[in-house]
Amino acid sequence: MKGLFLLVPVLTVPTPSSLCTPLKTINDSLSHRRRYMKHNFPINYGIRLQSEEIFKLSNISWMRVNVESLDELTLQRLWFQINQGILKKLIRVMPERHPSRRYTAELETRFKDAEGVFVQAYPAEVFQRELPESVQDIWDQLTEEPEKVSSWRYATPKSLMDNLCHTMHCLFSQCFTTQAQHDYCGTTHWRKGRKNKKMQLEAGKKPWR
Ligand SMILES: *[C@@H]1O[C@H](CO)[C@@H](O)[C@H](O)[C@H]1NC(C)=O
Ligand SMILES: *[C@@H]1O[C@H](CO)[C@@H](O)[C@H](O)[C@H]1NC(C)=O
Repeated sequence: MKGLFLLVPVLTVPTPSSLCTPLKTINDSLSHRRRYMKHNFPINYGIRLQSEEIFKLSNISWMRVNVESLDELTLQRLWFQINQGILKKLIRVMPERHPSRRYTAELETRFKDAEGVFVQAYPAEVFQRELPESVQDIWDQLTEEPEKVSSWRYATPKSLMDNLCHTMHCLFSQCFTTQAQHDYCGTTHWRKGRKNKKMQLEAGKKPWR
């Protein structure tokens, strides 16, 4: 195990540009998230998730500081793993004729496409590397049987898609840079983006805060 680890070069590779196209497609879909992930659901409707499935900018900044030998690729893998699971769960709670079902199914397809490109872009050994212990723990929790999950959280579909969007801009910033080089990983960037007080109040009501 250790030997294999040593053979793999340290990863400082940039985000492959091939990945930017499918990620931008996801970004385009996400621009309709208010309509499909908020308006078509009852007020404050929350979907039940494992606590490890809540993956926000604050998790990324916390992990960058606290997890030893954490690389960007690991965070990106975690992002794919978590959000794919979330999209699956969202689809599962929607009846066949739910007005957001097609939107969500399409988003999931686009997500799978992006993951395919992501996996193809690196040599297979990269995905067999040992993960930092705390990340492996999260990974194990994510694949745990429902009856063994120790801690559940409720989150609104819109908030989950907001998290997906913000963390995507942070972790794949090379695909989303504009001339004005924002720091997409800084939470304040997104706070500033909020248009008015009412929206901030809404955010304050969300059950997991
Ligand atoms: C991502 O989507 C937003 C709209 O939600 C848009 O303003 C922005 O230009 C998009 N970014 C890219 C790189 O496509
Ligand atoms: C993100 O942080 C919250 C607590 O703020 C925690 O419950 C959750 O498990 C974390 N998610 C991951 C993927 O570590």
